[in-house]
Amino acid sequence: MAGTRPTPADQAREAVVEAALARLDLDTKARLLAGQDMWSLPELPAIGLRSLVMSDGPIGVRGVRWTADDPSIALPSPTALAATWDPALARRAGRLLAQEARRKGVHVLLAPTVNLHRSPLGGRHFEAYSEDPYLTGRIGTGYVTGVQEGGVGTTVKHFVANDAETDRFTVNNTVSPRALRELYLAPFEAIVENAHPWGIMTAYNSVNGSTMSEHRYLVEEVLRGEWGFDGYNVSDWMAARSTVGAIEGGLDVAMPGPVTVYGDKLAAAVRAGETTEAKVDAAVRNVLRLAARVGILEGAEPVVTDLPETVDGESLAREIARRAFVLVRNEGGALPIPAGHSVALIGAAARDARVLGGGSATVFPAHVVSPLDGLTAALPEGTLTYAVGADPSQELAAADKGFELRAICRDSEGEILGTRSAPSGHIQWMGNDLPDGVTHDRLDSVELTGTFTPRESGPHTFGIKGLGAFTLTIDGTEHFDGVQSTDLDDPFVTFFGDPVERATVDLTAGRAYAVSLRHTVDVPDDVPMRVISFTLAHQEPARDPDELIAEAVEAARAADTAIVVVATTERVESEGFDRADLRLPGRQDELVHAVAAANPHTVVVVNSGSPVELPWREEVAAVLLGWFPGQEGGAALADVLTGAHEPGGRLPTTWGPLDSAPVTRVTPTDGELPYTEDVFIGYRAWERENRTPTYPFGHGLGYTDWTYDEIDVTGTTVTVRVTNTGTRTGRETIQLYLAPTDPTPDRPTRWLAGFATVEAAPGESVHTTVDLPSRAFEVWDDQTNTWTPVKGTYEIEASHSLTDTRLRATCVF
Ligand code: BGC
Repeated sequence: MAGTRPTPADQAREAVVEAALARLDLDTKARLLAGQDMWSLPELPAIGLRSLVMSDGPIGVRGVRWTADDPSIALPSPTALAATWDPALARRAGRLLAQEARRKGVHVLLAPTVNLHRSPLGGRHFEAYSEDPYLTGRIGTGYVTGVQEGGVGTTVKHFVANDAETDRFTVNNTVSPRALRELYLAPFEAIVENAHPWGIMTAYNSVNGSTMSEHRYLVEEVLRGEWGFDGYNVSDWMAARSTVGAIEGGLDVAMPGPVTVYGDKLAAAVRAGETTEAKVDAAVRNVLRLAARVGILEGAEPVVTDLPETVDGESLAREIARRAFVLVRNEGGALPIPAGHSVALIGAAARDARVLGGGSATVFPAHVVSPLDGLTAALPEGTLTYAVGADPSQELAAADKGFELRAICRDSEGEILGTRSAPSGHIQWMGNDLPDGVTHDRLDSVELTGTFTPRESGPHTFGIKGLGAFTLTIDGTEHFDGVQSTDLDDPFVTFFGDPVERATVDLTAGRAYAVSLRHTVDVPDDVPMRVISFTLAHQEPARDPDELIAEAVEAARAADTAIVVVATTERVESEGFDRADLRLPGRQDELVHAVAAANPHTVVVVNSGSPVELPWREEVAAVLLGWFPGQEGGAALADVLTGAHEPGGRLPTTWGPLDSAPVTRVTPTDGELPYTEDVFIGYRAWERENRTPTYPFGHGLGYTDWTYDEIDVTGTTVTVRVTNTGTRTGRETIQLYLAPTDPTPDRPTRWLAGFATVEAAPGESVHTTVDLPSRAFEVWDDQTNTWTPVKGTYEIEASHSLTDTRLRATCVF
């Protein structure tokens, strides 16, 4: 472990691990390194090892089942957590996730995601923290510390440079050693150093010619050698493609199973002399150490024996959300909403909230508080109206509201093998997670069947997502009976692909109609994992878009304050693909222009996990960035809009329009994606190009005002004193940037080197002391392959945001 000596407890665990390892033969060891199914490793009762269970992920613990009937707490998106700039809050989030993991029998979380916001088009932007490696490392450290304090392991991912989704299985990212060290590796290094994670996940992509599941240099030499990482290294799902390449490259576990490059193939490779048993032992040792740490290896005391206090998940989700909301504009103190104001709430996402991003980070919360729910509860009766305004999700989505469904599994004779409830139209059964009584060898078809009671009359559209043979029947009429196929090669295409429209049927609101989607199962025997995955998709009758906007304008005109919630959709922001642009989908921009023209007190709430363009921002009174706010998002929003709490967020990433963003490219050419911008991403790039973004890194307003009174620098220790000059208690995030007084073109103009959050009552002065890390004064020297201090004079800026510098001092390093 980096920089620290093993404790007696570590040594005792290590002894148990060695003894267990010595009792295993080659075949058993090789088997232990291969997933036995989607989420777990095999148990080995002979050495007292229980099956190790892993689960996504970053904002909640899904567990081993991918279904809404096994709910989890859904916290705000990782971008939101980073916007709090509060590692201690991230740590509390981690503790909650450990508690959730224990509840679901999970030993290791597949999180956090600490890739960087290199391009705003990155599809998984919402799932990573920031464009800044230091902020990412601090938040990630808090998160990992919290999870592991709860006795559950973490798997920091995706090591490394998985910063976009396009061709993620095959892309070769070419990155200079310096950019790797100073940007992309930096958060991993900080977390290894400060939080000692028990796991790491290697990425799908290649870096400088070697796929990350086989990257001997980065895994063995840098991660384990230089940094002293002693955890396990698991492949991203289906990323490991070569037995010898992976084991020689330092990959411990190949997931998922049961068909992987390890197991029998690994034992055979040792016997053929293509690799050594010592390599296998090293990997098994890492897995057994993890098992010992989490308490599933007999004879080893787990790292955590006294569990931390129970956390109330709902209230923590609400607290993080309000601390994460970033108020980027607030003209004339439009927010908080003045007491007594009537409010028109507008937007499809105000009613059907989008609380989390798509892909493997998906969890199923037991309930969701929408903005409409939150404001209805918070405002006096009779003061709130609601209008849809514009519906960006005018696309097929998993059947949900109004559907009562269950899944019936049959064999080839049509005999029922088993059934399971289906809370939505999405079926996703991985590995052996099948309804009771059902086995893969007998399963022939799955029928999703039940009723649909529409909330609106008109033409309803139905579609199917998934590959294979389907029959769709609505109200007794068969609308589709055929096969769906694809020419895409991403193995998760059934998961990320688009649903195909198959029927439009006129239905009457309030009447229950019979619906059925039957899927004939045809999973080949040699797939790495057996997955039954398909979706009955549905879309409400489209209302006339002009009429919707006109209705919203009327509502806005009749109210004192208009609140428009705009949002991205799952087809815009998700794992599996990158974004094509940063525009809000549908006619939402037009809606805001129209509402703003009708009501000068228009407040826009932006419900997106990552940056979108805000072309109307100068026309509205206030803009609040709400991220994907998690299951309690609507309650948190009401807290902040009504002024019960201050919005606490600061931008963890620069927001600007795509056409002036300096680094955007996510699409490889001939399999290569060169990181030509080198160490200049995010604000480092905006400043180098001398471009002004819409809102700079670190920006965010609260409900009180601050003066920065004094800065004192002793060595590299900085003390800043601030005063709350407003009328209410508030929080300020004091940001410290380092700027060389003799700038050189090979370094950014300035960079974040420290930060701290303070709280003060009106009139109160408080101070904070921050030690700047020596790494902030170093660059990676590609010639000598070392960190090199850059001596000289630096200006230390104490700032409210990157561009709102309040105090300066110099320091000589
Ligand atoms: C994602 C990982 C995730 C894994 C398991 C992959 O597609 O890239 O982040 O942990 O699936 O769900």
